[in-house]
Amino acid sequence: MDAISVIRAKRDRGELTGEQIDWIIDAYTRGVVADEQMSALAMAVYLNGMTRSEISRWTAAMIASGERMDFSALPRPTADKHSTGGVGDKITLPLAPLVAACGAAVPQLSGRGLGHTGGTLDKLESIPGWRASLSNTEMMDVLRDVGSVICAAGDGLAPADKRLYALRDVTGTVESLPLIASSIMSKKIAEGTGALVLDVKAGSGAFMKNAEDARELAATMVELGADHGVRTVALLTDMNTPLGLTAGNALEVRESVEVLAGGGPADVVELTVALAREMLDAAGLPDADPAKALADGSAMDVWREMVTAQGGDADAELPWARERHVVTAATSGVLTRLDAYAVGLSAWRLGAGRARKEDPVQAGAGIQLHARPGDHITAGAPLLTLHTDTPGAFAYAEAALEDAIEIGPAESYASTPLILDRVG
Ligand code: URA
Repeated sequence: MDAISVIRAKRDRGELTGEQIDWIIDAYTRGVVADEQMSALAMAVYLNGMTRSEISRWTAAMIASGERMDFSALPRPTADKHSTGGVGDKITLPLAPLVAACGAAVPQLSGRGLGHTGGTLDKLESIPGWRASLSNTEMMDVLRDVGSVICAAGDGLAPADKRLYALRDVTGTVESLPLIASSIMSKKIAEGTGALVLDVKAGSGAFMKNAEDARELAATMVELGADHGVRTVALLTDMNTPLGLTAGNALEVRESVEVLAGGGPADVVELTVALAREMLDAAGLPDADPAKALADGSAMDVWREMVTAQGGDADAELPWARERHVVTAATSGVLTRLDAYAVGLSAWRLGAGRARKEDPVQAGAGIQLHARPGDHITAGAPLLTLHTDTPGAFAYAEAALEDAIEIGPAESYASTPLILDRVG
């Protein structure tokens, strides 16, 4: 077998054989196939797609490139959630302890932010002392003792995806349905969860800009889960507006703690509870009541234990950025649009996100929303507060918001549901 014949087969719109897929993924992981050859193949896949059976084999080969974790010794069923990413998406923070408080074990391997979407690990690292990197043994201990753990994936998990994702990031081949589905599912299946709930986002702040593409991605991932014995369902959710009232690391941790304390923005609570119900159902715990676990403080108790078990100080004051700037409404009316992508880009320019993997993020940077679409606004009222340690960023952050805010008559506003559909 050789890389050039595999590249030519996909370039010429052929279907790759199982042997070709197994060989190229294994050879790439071992460094026998070069980055430039894998880039050419990724671009051929981007342009010509893959059949369902190619995607399934590609996913299996990526899983086989590394270790597969095993939680069968735990006394509780396992359930995990994956979001395809959005602006203000802090749901993992309240969700993992909430589902653990209801009786499942939640092994939540999470990532860092790149570009306009935030990363769960970056958010949690704004808690003084909190550690994202745990050994497999430490992860298992937290899971057994607390019930939920949120940490970075170890290097042994789907190493083929680690290399390939970094390559796709710099070769314009991220936005390919077969490559996204296999990338996400290889990591989640290798992680060893028994049940998986996917939050597949559609809208300006998401990978998938429209609901049809998001539905196809969701259906593909649900089938891949079933192929590998993981009970998988997906919710399609709206990402045209940021989730909640904050985008940025410490800002989003504060909002998550408000949700765990029984408050918080209605949309964050709605999605947290809906995803928790799906996870508990898929884990075989349909009678658990996540709304009660938020109201009675048991989810908060698990959160505090989880933060403490990972070295964090659950009582510490979270950092604030040094400088603030308030954006006000130019006219009166109803806020008809607050664009998620623009808010994410603006928060990123303020220092909440990174341009390259190795860049640091500012814990306090980001954006607070004072209004959401559908709210009545008076001219001059505050709409957003921008936070940063680097005030030179305000002008760039405001420029990102230029066409993001629309205020109009009440009749021009049409509300959209947060949860668009369920697949699975
Ligand atoms: N997240 C992943 O893990 N992989 C992708 O390809 C896209 C988003």
